[in-house]
Amino acid sequence: MAPSANPIGVFDSGVGGLTVVAALERRLPKESILYLGDTARLPYGSKSATTVRRYTRRNLEFLRKRGVKAAVIACNTASALALSDLESPMPFFGVIEPGAAEAVRSTRGKIGVIATASTIGSDAYARAIHALDSEVEVSSTACPLLVPLVEEGWHDDPVTAEIARRYLEPLLAKGIDTLVLGCTHYPLLKTTLRQVVGEEVTMIDSAETVAAKVAAELARLDLLSSGDNPEFHFCLTDVNNRFRHLAETILDCDDLTTEWVDVL
Ligand code: DGL
Repeated sequence: MAPSANPIGVFDSGVGGLTVVAALERRLPKESILYLGDTARLPYGSKSATTVRRYTRRNLEFLRKRGVKAAVIACNTASALALSDLESPMPFFGVIEPGAAEAVRSTRGKIGVIATASTIGSDAYARAIHALDSEVEVSSTACPLLVPLVEEGWHDDPVTAEIARRYLEPLLAKGIDTLVLGCTHYPLLKTTLRQVVGEEVTMIDSAETVAAKVAAELARLDLLSSGDNPEFHFCLTDVNNRFRHLAETILDCDDLTTEWVDVL
């Protein structure tokens, strides 16, 4: 099989990376996807850099051994903490730089970043933004309660809106005009977040921006698939019904099957 016909690997700590799969599917409808959700070790967002780096290296190696032609580290926390240390013979992409670049393109000078505690602690978004434009003001805040609320299926719930408001008020008080959704789960909260931030703030969805980057790079490397029967395969390090339920909502399907895998 020509490398271009091989799947794109996508990995996340859990279900949230499927927002990246959905974005890839919209942009690259001929591509097969091999997804790895490290559900046994979720959450990454509260773990140390050393641990997240170890998990990320193993996950990338798992995808490579399964024959993917390129890999997307959909997890913001893994991208923020581990990307700079990674080595692999295949192309791989993180979500921080594409998100930062889009934020810099859109802003009038004040960017807010919301993400997990580990991503905010790493300062990766602020660094990536300032590498592109040192004049931009960046205000960041960790929102640790939002991931569990999404996992609970409370995307569109007044409780979630109230919690989001508590997190976002300090950023809004600083006059942000652009908000980076720096976590795989947050695109699922767009409707709720829009109610909180109003119409004037541009929201940057890292799922969309990384999909655009992957499309451009695969075209450049002559690795785009021309097949007509793309396949989707979902591997999990812990199989549970909650994943299937949320996955079917995100991908708008009702027959998702998963394979249990051990990457330890
Ligand atoms: N995937 C993580 C991220 O994008 C969120 C979930 C977790 O904490 O593992 O940062």
